[in-house]
Amino acid sequence: MTRKLFVTTALPYANGAFHIGHIMEYIQADIWVRFQRMQGHEVHFVGADDAHGAPIMIAAEKAGVTPQAFVANIAAGRKQYLDGFHIAFDNWHSTDGPENHALSRDIYRKLKAAGFITTKTIEQFYDPVKSMFLPDRYIKGECPKCGAKDQYGDSCEACSAVYAPTDLKNPYSTLTGATPVMKSSEHFFFKLSDQQCVDFLREWALGNIDNAVDGKPRLQPEVANKAREWLENDGGLSDWDISRDAPYFGIEIPDAPGKYFYVWLDAPVGYLASLKNYFDKTGRDFDAFMTDPTTEQYHFIGKDITYFHTLFWPAMLKFSGHKIPNNVFVHGFITVSGEKMSKSRGTGISPLRYLDIGMNPEWLRYYIAAKLNAKVEDVDFNPEDFVARVNADLIGKYVNIASRAAGFIAKKFDGTLSMEWATDSDPFLLTLRTAATEIQALFNGREFGKALRAAMDQADIVNAYVDANKPWELAKDPAHSAALHEVCSRLMEAFRILSIYLKPVLPELVQQVESMLNLQPLQWADVSVPMLHGHRIKPYTHLMQRVDPKMLDALFEMPEQVADTQKTHPLPGPLPEGEGENRSSANFKIEALAPEIKIDDFAKIDLRIAMIVNCEHVEGSDKLLRLTLDAGEGRMRNVFSGIKSAYQPEELIGKMTVLVANLAPRKMKFGVSEGMVLAASAADEKANPGIFILNPWPGATPGMRVG
Ligand code: 2FM
Ligand code: ZN
Repeated sequence: MTRKLFVTTALPYANGAFHIGHIMEYIQADIWVRFQRMQGHEVHFVGADDAHGAPIMIAAEKAGVTPQAFVANIAAGRKQYLDGFHIAFDNWHSTDGPENHALSRDIYRKLKAAGFITTKTIEQFYDPVKSMFLPDRYIKGECPKCGAKDQYGDSCEACSAVYAPTDLKNPYSTLTGATPVMKSSEHFFFKLSDQQCVDFLREWALGNIDNAVDGKPRLQPEVANKAREWLENDGGLSDWDISRDAPYFGIEIPDAPGKYFYVWLDAPVGYLASLKNYFDKTGRDFDAFMTDPTTEQYHFIGKDITYFHTLFWPAMLKFSGHKIPNNVFVHGFITVSGEKMSKSRGTGISPLRYLDIGMNPEWLRYYIAAKLNAKVEDVDFNPEDFVARVNADLIGKYVNIASRAAGFIAKKFDGTLSMEWATDSDPFLLTLRTAATEIQALFNGREFGKALRAAMDQADIVNAYVDANKPWELAKDPAHSAALHEVCSRLMEAFRILSIYLKPVLPELVQQVESMLNLQPLQWADVSVPMLHGHRIKPYTHLMQRVDPKMLDALFEMPEQVADTQKTHPLPGPLPEGEGENRSSANFKIEALAPEIKIDDFAKIDLRIAMIVNCEHVEGSDKLLRLTLDAGEGRMRNVFSGIKSAYQPEELIGKMTVLVANLAPRKMKFGVSEGMVLAASAADEKANPGIFILNPWPGATPGMRVG
C-alpha cells in the first residue's frame, strides 16, 4: 500500500548558521525520507526558519536592521549546507511567512472557541529604559545565596543555587543596565491542565489503544518515560503561557492589540505553513492532504525540545481540530570523541569547513548513519573511527566489488553482461536478496546502524566470492573466458543490489552507479529485478576516494589556521613551492615600525576578546561587513569592519577575535561603529592583497583583556 507521509525536522532559529547538530538531524531525516521514497511512498519533506522571538528581535536591533532583514540574511546562507550534504527538503520556508500568520491565528481562534484559552494577569520584570518585559535570559544580578555578581536569573554559576529571577539581589537588565521593575500584564494561556487535554495526552503519549505503530508503543521508551513524568508528577500539567507583550517579533494575537504569540506557539505551526507554501506553489491541495485520514505526520527532533513536541504540539492540534502527529522521532546530541563539542578545545566541527576542505559529504552521511539507532542516544564523532569505518566499509567492501569486476566486463566482453545464471532460485542471488526484508525493516525503524551492518555483511559475502573465484586468475587463461564473464557479471549484479541497500544514505554515489550500470534510478523493489542478459554497462569510473587522515587534522584545526589555509590551499596536500612557513615575510614588504611607546601608552588601549555573534553584508558598501560582537559586557556591540574582500559573513559567525574596546564610537554612513576589530594586512596591499583577522588561542572567552 502506498503511504502518504509528511515529514519535518525541527525548525532552526534564524539567528545563526547551521551547526553540525542541525546537519546530523537533517541527514537522519533525509535518509529516512529517501528510503520511504524508494518504497514508492508519497513523501513530503519540509523545513523552515524559526524566525520569531525576543532574541532575534534584539539581535536585529543591535545589527541595525529589521528583524525581517536579519532573518532573510540568515535564510540566504542555508542552501549551501543543504545542497552540500545532499539534504533534499522539498521546501524551505519561514515561520514569518503569511501562511504561518494565518494558520497560527486560525488554530488560536479554534482553541479559543473550544474553551482552551484563558487569561491571567501576571507580574514580570520590566526594563523601564527599553520599555519592554524582560525574558529571564536578559536579567542578571547577585546570587541570593552566595552573593556572586553577574549571575543569570535562574541559577548561580558560582554556587549552583537555583532560584527565580525575582530572587536576585540588585538585578539589572543586560540590555540597558537599568534596574528592572515589577510590572503586571494580562497574558493568554493554553489550558493544558484541562482534564480533556490531560486525558488526550496520556492516551496519545502512553496509551495502547489506537496508538501502536507496527505493533509497538508510539513513543520511544525514553520519551514515553519523560512524558509519564511530566503527566503524572509534580501535580500534573500547568497551563501554558502563550502570549508576549509588544515589542516582540512575532504574530499578533487576534483581537488583542499589542499581544503576540510566544515563539513556541507559532514555531511548530511553521511545519504546516511550510507544507502549505509548498503545496500552493506546486498546485496541490493542502487541506485535502491534511484532512485525509491516511496521511501520516512525523517530526524528527532533538531531545531538548521533547516537551514542546509531546505535549503542547499534539494538544494544540487535537483541540483545534487538526490531524495529530503520528509520532515524533527524538535523537540525542552529537559529541566529539566522547565529549561535548567545544570550539575553544578545537573539537568543534564546522559543516562548512568540512565541505571547504574537500571532505566528501557522503562519508559523513555514512558515518552518522552507521552510528544512528532508534534510541535517544548521543552520536559520537570519533576521527580515527571515522577514517577507519569509511575506508573499510565504503572503499574496502563496497566500491571495491565494482572496481574488481567492471574492468574485465569492459575490456574482455565489450561491456555486456552474461546473466543466464540469474534465475530466482540461484543461491548467490537468493542470499543477497533475502537480506532486503531485514534491511528494509531496519531502515523503516530508523535502526540505520544495524541496516548498514546487515548490508556490509552481504558485501563481506560478495568479497569472499571474489576471493574464492579470483577473476584476475581466470583472466589469464582464455579457456576460462566464460567463467570470468559469469563471475564478473555476478559481481556487478551483487554490486547493483548492494547499491539499492545503500542508496538512502549515499544518493550521489548511487546516482553515479546507476549511470555506470546504465540503469534507471533504482527503487527498493528492483532488488529482485536482475540486469538482463546482454545488458551493456559503461566503463568503470572512479567512484569514491579514500579518506586521507590528514583531512581530519584539518577539520579540527584551530580557527586561525583554517581561515588562512582555506583561502590559499585546498587541503590536504603540500604547500606550493616557496609557500612554506615564512612565505609572507619572504614575499612582501615589511612596513617600517611606528615610533617607540611606553607601556603606559599601550595600557591606554583596552583590547578585549570578543565573540562574533553575527556578521552580515552592509547594503551599499563593497568594503564593509557589519559585525555583532559580544565582548562579555552583557550587551552587543555593532562594529563595521573593512574585511569584506577577505571573508564571507558565515565564516566569521561564532569565531573569537580581538576588539579595541575603548575606541570612541564613530558615526559612519551606515550606522555607529562601536570599536574596531584587529586584522593583519601587508603594507603594499595592492601587490599583496589579503586581510587576516586575529583569532585568539583556544580558551580565551569574551571580555578577557588582551595585553
Ligand atoms: O530549539 C529550536 O531550535 C527551535 N527553533 C525548534 C523549533 S521546532 C518547531 F517547533 F518549529
Ligand atoms: Zn551563588
